[in-house]
Amino acid sequence: MSRARRGVPGRSAIVTGGGSGIGAALVRALVADGAHVVVADIDVDAAQAVVDSLPGAGTGSVAGARAARLNVTDAAAVAALVEEVIGEHGGLDLMFANAGITWGGDTELLTLEQWNAIIDVNIRGVVHCVHAAYPHMIARGSGSLVLTSSMGGLSPAGLLTSYAMTKHAVVGLGMSLRAEAAGHGVGVTVVCPAAVDTPILDKGELGGFDGRRYYLDGQGVRRPLDPDALARSVLDGVSRNRALVIEPARARATWRLQRLAPGLMDRMLTRYVRSARS
Ligand SMILES: NC(=O)c1ccc[n+]([C@@H]2O[C@H](COP(=O)([O-])OP(=O)(O)OC[C@H]3O[C@@H](n4cnc5c(N)ncnc54)[C@H](O)[C@@H]3O)[C@@H](O)[C@H]2O)c1
Repeated sequence: MSRARRGVPGRSAIVTGGGSGIGAALVRALVADGAHVVVADIDVDAAQAVVDSLPGAGTGSVAGARAARLNVTDAAAVAALVEEVIGEHGGLDLMFANAGITWGGDTELLTLEQWNAIIDVNIRGVVHCVHAAYPHMIARGSGSLVLTSSMGGLSPAGLLTSYAMTKHAVVGLGMSLRAEAAGHGVGVTVVCPAAVDTPILDKGELGGFDGRRYYLDGQGVRRPLDPDALARSVLDGVSRNRALVIEPARARATWRLQRLAPGLMDRMLTRYVRSARS
């Protein structure tokens, strides 16, 4: 009997940004479910370390994953990897466009190079994954695109403006594409977590910005979400072709408040940015 999770359409997957954090957790969950996963990351050593840490790795038994060097800003490289996987497995069932970077701090501190870098990775990188995988999924009449956005893709996030902009774009892409993809038998799920315990919480900090503290205080929580718990929730959401996976429950409440009382949220965020700066 197939070990693949019931309802998840298939077993071959690419996870971009699979060498760390949420991507690595997705790899672990997919492999545990019997999928064959390409762990694709610009940091191929990190991707290989994830593969080497999987159960059965190094013992001669098949761990169900391999590492690949991939820069998602390189459209031709993304397309070539998709073709490779189709050649290896007869098709690509699951494309996780997950790689992402962040900048946190006052917006005037961002250089144009930093603006362009975040647009290239967080928007163009996702577009390249969709552009390469979606036509193939249409032709097969199956598959799922799973796009990692963020709570910053659903709600405004002062001091994270470039990040929030790119993540709103990913929500816009995924939620719009769903309506078209459904007619082709292709699923689209957008992942919108609040703070997750990964290295990104301490990256991209400009001008003394303390990312980890900002995210946790902003949500009124002491600990960020466990990436493995998030990955299980994502696979469950993909198996049900849910539009959005928003975790944890507190983040879903924030999203509801944002839609019901945007003016209140605006005032709360303005106050929070002022207190975070001081
Ligand atoms: N951790 C959080 O709190 C959180 C919350 C919401 C959304 N997210 C999103 O989740 C995704 C994964 O982030 P994470 O928290 O695991 O961060 P992370 O920094 O731990 O992992 C990101 C991975 O992406 C890779 N990467 C970066 N640029 C790349 C490129 N050009 N091509 C290929 N790989 C590249 C990095 O090498 C790294 O392995 C990101 O899109 C992030 O924005 C994270």
